[in-house]
Amino acid sequence: MNELEIPLPENIIFEWDALQTLPDYLASLPYRYAIITDNQVLSLHAEKFMQALVAKGLEASLFTFPAGEWNKTRETKESIENQMLEKQMGRDTCVIAIGGGVVTDLAGFLSATYCRGIPLILIPTSLVSMIDASIGGKTGVNTIYGKNLIGALYEPFKIIIDPNLLTSLPVKEMTNGIVEMMKHGLIADQTYYHFLKQNLHFLIKQDQNVVKKAIIDSYRIKSAIVRQDKADRAIRHLLNFGHTIGHAIEKLADFSLSHGQAVAIGILIESDISVSLGVLSSSCFADIFSFINDLEISFEVLEHISVDDMLDCLALDKKSVHGRPRFVLLSEIGKCLTQDNEYALFVDRSVVKQSIERMKNDLCGH
Ligand SMILES: NC(=O)c1ccc[n+]([C@@H]2O[C@H](COP(=O)([O-])OP(=O)(O)OC[C@H]3O[C@@H](n4cnc5c(N)ncnc54)[C@H](O)[C@@H]3O)[C@@H](O)[C@H]2O)c1
Ligand SMILES: [Zn+2]
Repeated sequence: MNELEIPLPENIIFEWDALQTLPDYLASLPYRYAIITDNQVLSLHAEKFMQALVAKGLEASLFTFPAGEWNKTRETKESIENQMLEKQMGRDTCVIAIGGGVVTDLAGFLSATYCRGIPLILIPTSLVSMIDASIGGKTGVNTIYGKNLIGALYEPFKIIIDPNLLTSLPVKEMTNGIVEMMKHGLIADQTYYHFLKQNLHFLIKQDQNVVKKAIIDSYRIKSAIVRQDKADRAIRHLLNFGHTIGHAIEKLADFSLSHGQAVAIGILIESDISVSLGVLSSSCFADIFSFINDLEISFEVLEHISVDDMLDCLALDKKSVHGRPRFVLLSEIGKCLTQDNEYALFVDRSVVKQSIERMKNDLCGH
């Protein structure tokens, strides 16, 4: 049973303790199961889940890899594929990905190509994977040339969201998810943004009502955007707010900071650009600034990044055209500026430069 007032799509089960009732549902399907997880989620949740499946008499095998973004590779995928082939798992196999975005991206891509495509169930266990990575069908792995460069669009037939799984998640990982939730509010829903800001403490403490509303609202915002732009060419660019600068920071800092930290700084700089262009008011900017301050994110990394390196890095952003970066601009909290059906707009290099310099000064104090 779905616990929601307005039903989510049928392929989503949102329920506290959903994992406990899941074996019964899986027993009703004609599959054997390949459970894919990382070593951290294994000991916290997946091992117990596997035991529950075996206790039900289901045929299930567990495949794991070491946790971490650097293992989201073709090599990890190949190794699991080989182990599955070794066990003679065929087209009657259903993959169950249980883990954060690294697991769901990798296992999703594996499902898309194994025996030319086998069914996929996602059980996201991090906040980022619940409100972001599990939505929209993007799957993939990283290469030495960049993140997520090899992959496929492949939809799971069920997504199981059990917020109980979050109780073991470190606060730093919660914050990564909250930054993406905040982004959803900023680009599409002012009321949701203010809800998050006012209830931040309860969200971090995982108050059930707050967690429920936050996950569902974020889910709705992202899926509504994705539905309109499967090809990632237009409105889906909105989801990139804060990420144009954020990705450049991650890269120049050699991924020494978390994605959420980098995107939070990106949100500030891109909001400042919107103010510079006269698109966003300073009072909205102050509101965003105070929200990010409440997240207690360290900005220290900015000190060590040169403004020119950052500007050069922006040329490689996926929204850039002929090396000229484009930005999603906020016009107010909950709304973005669009021009001629474009959601990512060119901004003069001098404006971008000034905003980076200003934020460097304001955030690092010199
Ligand atoms: N496909 C998409 O549309 C999409 C969208 C956003 C992000 N992503 C991808 O998702 C990844 C980031 O996701 P993430 O932040 O979940 O990273 P992650 O999968 O690395 O998880 C972060 C850490 O939390 C641990 N963890 C996960 N669930 C836990 C739990 N319940 N309790 C304790 N620890 C737990 C993991 O083992 C890992 O160490 C990136 O690779 C990114 O590219 C994909
Ligand atoms: Zn992100």
